Amino acid sequence: MDADRRIVAVEEVPEESTLLVTLRPVDADAVDDGEGDVGESDDGRPEAEAILTRAAGKVTAFRNYCQHWTDVRLDKDDGAFVRNGEVFCQKHGATFEADSGYCNFGPCEGAVLETVDVSVDGDAVYLADDAYEFVRLGSAKRDSDAGDSRIDFTGN
Ligand code: FES
Repeated sequence: MDADRRIVAVEEVPEESTLLVTLRPVDADAVDDGEGDVGESDDGRPEAEAILTRAAGKVTAFRNYCQHWTDVRLDKDDGAFVRNGEVFCQKHGATFEADSGYCNFGPCEGAVLETVDVSVDGDAVYLADDAYEFVRLGSAKRDSDAGDSRIDFTGN
């Protein structure tokens, strides 16, 4: 595996939360500014976020925006809420199956989170999706969090 595509050790991927990472789309036009997880690096190139979680030992990754309101990030820098193999959106309570991204409850029921391909080799998780380059652990750079400014149930 290419060391540049190593994201993190498997054991650092949480089972009851998500790990936020920043990616760079290879095709800058492939990302939509309306998606709340899109930012911009210092050199003006777009960045996008992915969330990693681990369910039944399997690591999966999805882009970090809800399928209901796409400007809403699921993980707002402190980990999305994950229980019983489901990722919760704190805005209106949609739940997504952590292994498939399928929304099984909520206003976007039937929709599916955008998958980012990852693979496990040995004790580490690697980015396997050719559409992205790995940039860093943590959030993308954005001028403002305007898309996250609407208050949700938790007051965040
Ligand atoms: S924005 Fe996620 S459920 Fe409404």
